Amino acid sequence: MKRYALISDVHSNFVALEAVLRQIDGEGVDTIICAGDIVGYNSQPNEVVDELRRRAIQCIMGNHDEAVIQPMQERTMNSLAAFAVRWTKRHLTGENTRFLSSLKQTLTFDGFAVFHGSPFDPYEYIYEDQVDERLALASNCRYTVLGHTHVPFVRRFSGATVINPGSVGQPRDGDARASYAIVEGDRIDIRRVPYDIESIVRLNVSEGLPTALSERLRWGV
Ligand SMILES: [Fe+2]
Repeated sequence: MKRYALISDVHSNFVALEAVLRQIDGEGVDTIICAGDIVGYNSQPNEVVDELRRRAIQCIMGNHDEAVIQPMQERTMNSLAAFAVRWTKRHLTGENTRFLSSLKQTLTFDGFAVFHGSPFDPYEYIYEDQVDERLALASNCRYTVLGHTHVPFVRRFSGATVINPGSVGQPRDGDARASYAIVEGDRIDIRRVPYDIESIVRLNVSEGLPTALSERLRWGV
């Protein structure tokens, strides 16, 4: 049976991504899927995009990725997020910008349907208590994978499961450890990985990103 790792919302935090990939590499995973928001908020966009491309990880586009290539999207963001988007635009290589432009908002393969927000709206926030059977069955796939909220959950219905693996690079459920999920048939596990938060905080501060963006990493909010 094939084993999949689900990651999402890496948000230019390569320190966290490396820790997660190190653990995934030890778990005999066949395929890694990323549910969007590769960049934004933190200061390592090229390191993150290079690694996702090098490993040919299956990715979709999140709202922060879109904001880098589509100015209208930036206008929907709060000032801290928009600041980080502008910083990312200045630092991302042309090749990596083109990679973000190439991403689709949806991916369907191997029984997985992947959306950043939901099957109905690419950028709506779906928390666990908002998931219903209509959403779970919308894509006709065994697994529906969502990101965007940075809060992990697994909701099972008969014949369909909805999974949010949480966020690698900016968890918001009060647990500062990086989050991801492993899927193997009916077995679905959310995993948490401690990483060197102060290391990405130092990098963010030295690059002039707002301190509030680093502070929230320490608390996982
Ligand atoms: Fe995000």
